[in-house]
Amino acid sequence: MKYIAPSILTADFANLLPQIRSVEIGGADWLHCDIMDGHFVPNISFGPPIVKSVKKSTELPLDCHLMIENPDFFIEDFVKSGANIITVHQEAVIHLNRTVHLIKEMGVKAGVSINPSTPVTFLREILEYVDMVLIMSVNPGFGGQRFLDSSIRKINELADLRDKLNLQFLIEVDGGIGKENIKKISEAGCDVFVVGSAIFNKENISAATAELKNIINSTYV
Ligand code: DX5
Ligand code: ZN
Repeated sequence: MKYIAPSILTADFANLLPQIRSVEIGGADWLHCDIMDGHFVPNISFGPPIVKSVKKSTELPLDCHLMIENPDFFIEDFVKSGANIITVHQEAVIHLNRTVHLIKEMGVKAGVSINPSTPVTFLREILEYVDMVLIMSVNPGFGGQRFLDSSIRKINELADLRDKLNLQFLIEVDGGIGKENIKKISEAGCDVFVVGSAIFNKENISAATAELKNIINSTYV
């Protein structure tokens, strides 16, 4: 199964509900919530209050990507706000095994993310515990950036490692994904595609979502 997860970071927050409806009509599988604190990344986005409102507005699973320092302190807030998946950055956590178990003990799926310059091998000792690994294909903090081609090698490496270890976690990729590169990202092994500007900056949000979904479903064997 392949999943499209539109990132609401790029949505129009004054028209969030109709834009969520548009991606739902287009076949979105999840909603990706890019949480930024202005410390771990050089940008501030939104927090639990917005997640709570979005939760009331959709049945889609909420995939919360915490680009924040000290995520342990906020995990319960995001769980209470309705997050279905909480992903923390390997670079932002001192005791990653403890943080992943904290998330799972609250009944929520646990993900771990790595920045472009962080090797896949840094995740070797946590892979058996996580539900998802998020490979950042841009330097986190902003939508609309160009996809870093070195990400393809990392996706391949992670998919091979998953096979070798006989694990089942999902591989998610976030940043610079569009119709011109989503096929090769899918063929490299991506399961969950986070897309912001290639959906929300389009005139027809539903059609943009559906087009991307059709491309990945055509590569799914
Ligand atoms: C970066 C953000 C973006 C966003 C996707 O921190 O995580 O990658 O979700 O934005 P686009 O699809 O516009 O690159
Ligand atoms: Zn993200």
